[in-house]
Amino acid sequence: MTTTTTPTVPGDGIEIRPMSVHIGAELFGVDLAGDLSAAQVAAIRAALLRWKVVFFRDQALDHAGHVRLARRFGAPTPAHVVFGTDEDHPEVYSIAKHRTAQNGRAAALRCWTGWHTDITAAINPPCASILRGQTVPPYGGDTQWTNLALAYDRLSEPLKRLVEGLRAVHRFDAPRDEDYARKVGARDLAAEHPLVTVHPESGEKVLYVSPAFVKEIVGMEAREGQALLELLWEHAVSSEFTVRFRWAPGSVAFWDNRATAHLAPVDIFATDFDRQFYRVTLNGEVPVGVDGRPSRLLSGDPIEPQST
Ligand SMILES: [Fe+2]
Repeated sequence: MTTTTTPTVPGDGIEIRPMSVHIGAELFGVDLAGDLSAAQVAAIRAALLRWKVVFFRDQALDHAGHVRLARRFGAPTPAHVVFGTDEDHPEVYSIAKHRTAQNGRAAALRCWTGWHTDITAAINPPCASILRGQTVPPYGGDTQWTNLALAYDRLSEPLKRLVEGLRAVHRFDAPRDEDYARKVGARDLAAEHPLVTVHPESGEKVLYVSPAFVKEIVGMEAREGQALLELLWEHAVSSEFTVRFRWAPGSVAFWDNRATAHLAPVDIFATDFDRQFYRVTLNGEVPVGVDGRPSRLLSGDPIEPQST
């Protein structure tokens, strides 16, 4: 009897190698800098929905290629609605080690600190992010993702019933320095999202807890909310739900921002290694809860696609 350990999607030449049982797959046999066929785009989309984050190796993307790739899957947003960009492409956000050093120091406090879903302070957070590694440390600097649909599924029935009826306030952290305060203050984004969202494509229920952004649970006393959030955050980053990716120059990670949270590395701050990554995000829709109610805007404007 033969068994297939590396399923492939027929017809498009893309080989899918899962990295864990519940999340993450490496995709081989596709050149992201080239013209993707409709079948390749469909296969990558399907893999993204199934595996939540997909990875590609040895890709030769520059900024223009990165943006062109993103356009095959949606409408790129401006690089960052709060922090902007210094790059020559308005869609490309630089993630450099020196800029995030302050985050890095803060991130070692608790096991869930630093885990986040991208920009959930917006009423319509990006639906997906595409991150490419350009300068990669020889070791260290791995990124981790967690499957928030599975995190919901693994809650007990009584807890599911409780969290399905709750909503939470998402906003950026309190200012750490003057520059941060000025930028966040200039565009004060805040949104109330359901604590459980329904994925618009898969229909899965998602435990929509973005630890770095969620500040309180609506209608709960501060102490009640904090205790429940700490329980949910610790649960959401259980190792069984996660995958860890070792980068190399030319690696690309493409994740479903509606069903995952991720953790930027902090170990590199103990080294002199440089790390330069670039990210493009795809414009997303307003999340909807199990009861059909959409998220609510508390401050700022929805994110609009980057105009060309
Ligand atoms: Fe992120």
